[in-house]
Amino acid sequence: MSKEHHYDVLVIGSGAAGLTLALQIAPHARVAVLSKGALTAGSTYLAQGGIAAVYDEEDSLEAHLADTVTAGNHLCRPEAVRYTVEHGRSCIDWLLSQGVPFTREPNGKLHLTQEGGHSHRRIVHAADATGKAVSETLIEQAQRHPNITLRTQAIAIDLITRRKLRLSDNRCVGAYVLDQRSGHVETLLAPCVVLATGGASKAYLYTSNTDGASGDGIAMAWRAGCRVANMEFNQFHPTCLYHPQAKSFLISEAVRGEGGRLLLPDGTRFMPRFDARAELAPRDVVARAIDHEMKRLGCDCLYLDISHKPAEFVRSHFPTIYGKCLEFGIDITRDPIPVVPAAHYTCGGVVTDNRGRTDIPGLYAVGETAFTGLHGANRLASNSLLECIVYASAAAEDIRAQLDTAPPLPKAPFWDESQVTDSDEDVVLAHNWDELRRFMWDYVGIVRTKKRLQRALNRVRLLQQEISDYYSNYKVSKDLVELRNLEVVAELIIRSAMLRKESRGLHYTLNYPQPLPEERDTILTPVNYDWPR
Ligand code: FAD
Ligand code: SIN
Repeated sequence: MSKEHHYDVLVIGSGAAGLTLALQIAPHARVAVLSKGALTAGSTYLAQGGIAAVYDEEDSLEAHLADTVTAGNHLCRPEAVRYTVEHGRSCIDWLLSQGVPFTREPNGKLHLTQEGGHSHRRIVHAADATGKAVSETLIEQAQRHPNITLRTQAIAIDLITRRKLRLSDNRCVGAYVLDQRSGHVETLLAPCVVLATGGASKAYLYTSNTDGASGDGIAMAWRAGCRVANMEFNQFHPTCLYHPQAKSFLISEAVRGEGGRLLLPDGTRFMPRFDARAELAPRDVVARAIDHEMKRLGCDCLYLDISHKPAEFVRSHFPTIYGKCLEFGIDITRDPIPVVPAAHYTCGGVVTDNRGRTDIPGLYAVGETAFTGLHGANRLASNSLLECIVYASAAAEDIRAQLDTAPPLPKAPFWDESQVTDSDEDVVLAHNWDELRRFMWDYVGIVRTKKRLQRALNRVRLLQQEISDYYSNYKVSKDLVELRNLEVVAELIIRSAMLRKESRGLHYTLNYPQPLPEERDTILTPVNYDWPR
């Protein structure tokens, strides 16, 4: 029942990165865009704060560059930072040209908000729901484009490369994709394949990410033979709403940018004790301070308070956060908001150059899946959506130049399901998901030690055996694909953390509390690529 489809470009992921690339290449090529859920699945739709770009007259590209490098603990690649900040305004212009309704001042200028680690007001936004505005606009444009095929509930399982087909001149030529509606695995072939699958924060028990985020692109690229870098730097956002029914809801950093204060349960402000920038210190500093105070006091959460600002200001700047908190009985114009840190963003990823190219010809990675060198050891707030647009645009240009010269597509075998049966033990998957995310939170979280990392590595290896066994015997499902990817990504995070014998940015270990004098990336190279079935 396998089906084969041919396209010029196969884009795996319908977030800001995937849709930008698709829209920019679509005038020249037939493009398929996949989402494993709805088109709004992924982190883009959830983004609140905004997109960093230099507009303020007092601001400069040099200041944006310096803030990025400081937040990144000097591990950022200077050429990637420069390339990104220099393209900030052209990205916003492109989004405006697509129709994104950014918030404006009464005089028509773009309104800029402030976030931690930024020395100026620099965040272009659509109230406190920037991602929704970007996502809905780009989806609408893509739906209208005759050259774009959008497929939902379509989950890529693995990449198809010429090397795997035992052909000379390695190149990525497509992917096997499970259509979750029909239950069949299809073969999608294209001379250019783009991983735009988002991050891997679902490796942790508590996360601000909701859908997806199981590191599928990183795991697929790793299995296909690409290097990955800096996976130890998983960013924990300092302020997620703490409430039993509020699954993963973020309280934007812009709340602190606009004057919100972090408080202990007794109402005392504590951030000035940890950093001169107080609530506006970069995220690694604030998340660690909150974690420290919660452990010291043995409390379940701390508080973020913006109630000293006029109620109308709060309601108009943060309508989404105000409304959501009110659903849980918290009126943020009067009450402090209970908050905890949660896994938020994957700074590492598939190694790419400044055109989104990976180690395999024909395979690109853009957005949170990619490692461009921009974020270093800690991403500066609102630099992620910027990176998505900048590198997706660069990759689209590169793909355009390749389209006429790409070799013809080879024949690929259909997905073989003759040896597998329907699973009768889905509880194994649920249990393993839970176990993995729990030990990653406990042992590979905000504060690490050598012993905890070793414990986590032992456990992930046990899980890998079980999952591999399961994968060989049962039909693939979304849960199985994601779990198989998460255990790969979890191992990459743990191994990278073990290799870093210092504390820097988001990687803090009690065994090596100081940074080393020399900055270096952690680059892992696959040695034994495995090939499913
Ligand atoms: P995503 O938007 O995550 O999209 C991933 C896509 O890949 C989805 O369509 C998903 O279905 C698809 N996919 C994944 N795996 C597969 C597979 N195997 N097969 C098929 N499809 C697959 N950054 C900022 O710069 N500013 C902000 O204000 C901001 N706020 C944030 C708020 C929240 C709550 C969160 C969680 C993140 C925020 N970030 C912010 C980070 C930013 O939103 C993300 O890094 C960015 O949106 C990632 O975009 P992306 O296109 O790379 O991936
Ligand atoms: C936020 O609004 O706090 C999220 C911004 C980001 O992750 O860049």
